[in-house]
Amino acid sequence: MRPVLYIARKLPDEALRVAENDCEVRLWDRESEPVPRNVLLDQLRDAEGLVSVLTERVDEELLKAAPRLKVVANMAVGYDNIDVEACRRHGVIVTNTPDVLTETTADLAWALLLATARRLPQSAELVRDGGWTTWSPLGLTGLDIYGKSLGILGMGRIGEAVARRAQGFGMTILYHNRRPRPEVEERLGARYLSLDALLREADILVILTPLTAETRHLIGRNELAKMKSTAILVNVSRGPVVDEEALVDALRQGVIWGAGLDVYEREPIGADHPLLQLDNTVCLPHIGSATVATRTAMARLAVQNAVNVLKGEKPLTPV
Ligand code: GLV
Ligand code: GLV
Repeated sequence: MRPVLYIARKLPDEALRVAENDCEVRLWDRESEPVPRNVLLDQLRDAEGLVSVLTERVDEELLKAAPRLKVVANMAVGYDNIDVEACRRHGVIVTNTPDVLTETTADLAWALLLATARRLPQSAELVRDGGWTTWSPLGLTGLDIYGKSLGILGMGRIGEAVARRAQGFGMTILYHNRRPRPEVEERLGARYLSLDALLREADILVILTPLTAETRHLIGRNELAKMKSTAILVNVSRGPVVDEEALVDALRQGVIWGAGLDVYEREPIGADHPLLQLDNTVCLPHIGSATVATRTAMARLAVQNAVNVLKGEKPLTPV
């Protein structure tokens, strides 16, 4: 009997085909709606593999409901939705999808950075609304990027890819990381700073650190107060790394100049969210890795990871 692999979101066919020979694939067949918790737990009663996305909380309760589970293959590079320690206790292997999304996510970080600094959404909206009546000397003016300093908080693979793009913009590259990375300093001319110094010196701060117990609310009221009043904060990692209430206050009071956000403390956010009442903030719906090619590659990699474990082979990208 082939092992049951439960896939918690409708994925592209070519990703599903990766599993069809080796597994009995069961699928939550909707793309824009997460599987209800009770359905998920019920489906996992006899499943040996789970392909999850970041809306699924994999915790003690889920693991208890899934006695045969051997692998949780998350279709994301981040895995803060998974209690990895609990998985270890239950002998469940956890995998993620690094590398395949690095350049795509760095592109989006830059798109968001530029959109925020040059107020692209506000400008496009003005044209669409018929509000473009004349050329105006200071209308919709933003901030320069060229020649400024870029501060990267969390210098991993994506941080490096963001920094590489900054070279074309003549930027000074600064970073903070748990450990300094001399090889990156050499390759990209990046300079390591304490978090405190990074906050004070960066014109643009790009947050790329994973969400862990240590990084939750790493950027709060005190940290925002240290930033330049002309600074832009860009977050493309996980919302809870930033204290969102403090961020809203800082943006409202001009403590910093603007923010470009792809992630939030609680997703999705609705149209009444305080961040959306601000004119100096650009909000995207968690689309960092959202290109056809990359999402397909992530789906294929996640399914391949699960299949490998179920066949008794090594997963390609274990956590
Ligand atoms: C998306 O946010 C990911 O972690 O891949
Ligand atoms: C603007 O369009 C300029 O020519 O300065």
